[in-house]
Amino acid sequence: MNQATLHQLKVFEAAARHGSFTRAAEELFLTQPTVSMQIKQLTKSVGLPLFEQVGKRLYLTEAGRELFATCRQIFDTIAQFEMKVADLKGLKQGQLRLAVITTAKYIIPRLLGPFCQLYPGIDISLQVTNHERILERMVNNMDDLYIMSQVPDHLDVNFEAFLENPLVVFAPLNHPLSHEKNIPIERLGEEPFIMREPGSGTRRAVQTLLDEHGVKVNVKLELGSNEAIKQAIAGGLGISVLSRHTLLTDAAEFSILDVQHFPIKRTWYMVYPAGKQLSIVARTYYEYLLNAAKEIVEQGNLLSIPSAETISR
Ligand code: PGA
Repeated sequence: MNQATLHQLKVFEAAARHGSFTRAAEELFLTQPTVSMQIKQLTKSVGLPLFEQVGKRLYLTEAGRELFATCRQIFDTIAQFEMKVADLKGLKQGQLRLAVITTAKYIIPRLLGPFCQLYPGIDISLQVTNHERILERMVNNMDDLYIMSQVPDHLDVNFEAFLENPLVVFAPLNHPLSHEKNIPIERLGEEPFIMREPGSGTRRAVQTLLDEHGVKVNVKLELGSNEAIKQAIAGGLGISVLSRHTLLTDAAEFSILDVQHFPIKRTWYMVYPAGKQLSIVARTYYEYLLNAAKEIVEQGNLLSIPSAETISR
């Protein structure tokens, strides 16, 4: 690897991440032949093929996968160093990569406003996806911090709870059950039900509760987004179970049914792999989110997002 350059590794990392030379070229503002040439030279230094083409798709070989993981470590270490230097200069600078569960998308982006005000030198990338995808991203070490409602028990991780995330039964505004109290859970079996997609943590939590009570729901529709489910409920297609936080701005359009065993108590956690050293920027965000959550709990209202000054105090 003596001949390999950092630039070649950067080009390779982008090509491996995108599974495409063309998209790597676009991202790095290079031409496609330049990307091919850099990867050819890198392949020569390694002495084994890094990619293989099957049909139209590009796959990493075993050596390619090893090199991809190595690149991530190298670039993480360099980023850490850059952040340390920025920190020594008294600046908080660098990149923060967050992956956030769908239910938390109602709150995390709002809290980024005050955070960016406090630390204008930090650039953020935010991925919003379901439980299963978050786990995949974590296994592949794609982000600095993960926000999710269920801490994976098969992975060695560090985690800390910061806010409750209760799951409640949503129905259209004038649903006949909306004025009833203490509705038996079995009653859910009589309503058309809208379910999240397989791989969703919400779905898993709902299914576990239903199974515990031997209740079978009549799934009319399966949808991969909380917002789409809300629109379907508003359109009268059925009822569903969603995070109460998904109601942040349109509570007047739905009723929450008072069903036995609900809400399902869940909590949002900040999670990262146990072996990972948090960057200064990630550590800063971690502390920030804990303080912001504390403020929100004290004010008792998710909508009253605290200001940068109150959070940093
Ligand atoms: P998900 O998220 O249903 O999008 O996976 C739910 C959660 O675990 O908060």
